[in-house]
Amino acid sequence: MRITDVIDEAEGIRSFRLQAENGGELPPFTPGAHINIRLGAGLVRQYSLAGDSADNGTYRVAVLREDQGRGGSKAIHAVVAGDTLGISTPRNNFPLAGFEASFHLLIAGGIGITPMLSMIAELERRKAEWLLHYCTRSRERTAFREELQPLVEAGKVVLHHDGGDPAKGLDIAALLAEYQPGHHVYVCGPKGMMQIAKAAVGAWPPHCVHFEHFAATELTSEDAAWDKKPFKIKIARTGQVVNVPARVGAVDALRNAGYEIETSCLEGYCGTCITRYTEGDPVHRDTVLSAADRKSYVMLCRARSRSRMLVIDI
Ligand code: FES
Repeated sequence: MRITDVIDEAEGIRSFRLQAENGGELPPFTPGAHINIRLGAGLVRQYSLAGDSADNGTYRVAVLREDQGRGGSKAIHAVVAGDTLGISTPRNNFPLAGFEASFHLLIAGGIGITPMLSMIAELERRKAEWLLHYCTRSRERTAFREELQPLVEAGKVVLHHDGGDPAKGLDIAALLAEYQPGHHVYVCGPKGMMQIAKAAVGAWPPHCVHFEHFAATELTSEDAAWDKKPFKIKIARTGQVVNVPARVGAVDALRNAGYEIETSCLEGYCGTCITRYTEGDPVHRDTVLSAADRKSYVMLCRARSRSRMLVIDI
């Protein structure tokens, strides 16, 4: 993919437009999808697509530069127009509900605005009822301000600046305290915001609540303790049994046994390592799968097993 435009969108935030090197059509995506971008030397990062899914010639991502981060944001901020980058096809762990939803409530924190932009384009096309609360530290750190201004004026986007003190920002707990039938809520933002939102949606049916994480959540001590328990994985196709020792990940154990497992974040939030299982009782420690998905799928990079054996389909 060739980078065609690099735009400073706000303090520390840059957007990048990507097109196929041959100028051809790109694989389609649905709002809320992300791509993996390879940034060299084994560095792969996930970025939500922030463009309109109806545009099949361009992808747009936006990235907050994090000087204390693990290096991905600094690497992509060094990219200039004309450079080329390798990417994956889009994957969506954060899809919009369909026409059964009567209202879509979007809550974005900081760079969590990116998937919301593709959602807004689609919701406008559908003539759906929606409202976005966009929370940032300050006006200067609010990306896509000009693009969103007409929607701010139309009352569909509400900006909140907290000056760095979440107590002065949007009261998410109050906003989500009550559920109204037909409403769906979508939340993407920093860890603190996600925790508050998760704690606040008790009244909402799980299928009406949609979260997109862009970092791993910390494991509870109970979840972390499963690392000490070894288990076995059986490959349904071959019958081969692979031992997963204590403190060794399932992905490493399978790779050591010669199986190729595609991974990206290795922390249970990108969806790349999704695997079907047919027997066993996995300990799910990801933030991707819904309760229904967990009956048949497991995110191998973070999972352990309650049962002695997990039978997987790879
Ligand atoms: S590699 Fe990202 S969820 Fe497993």
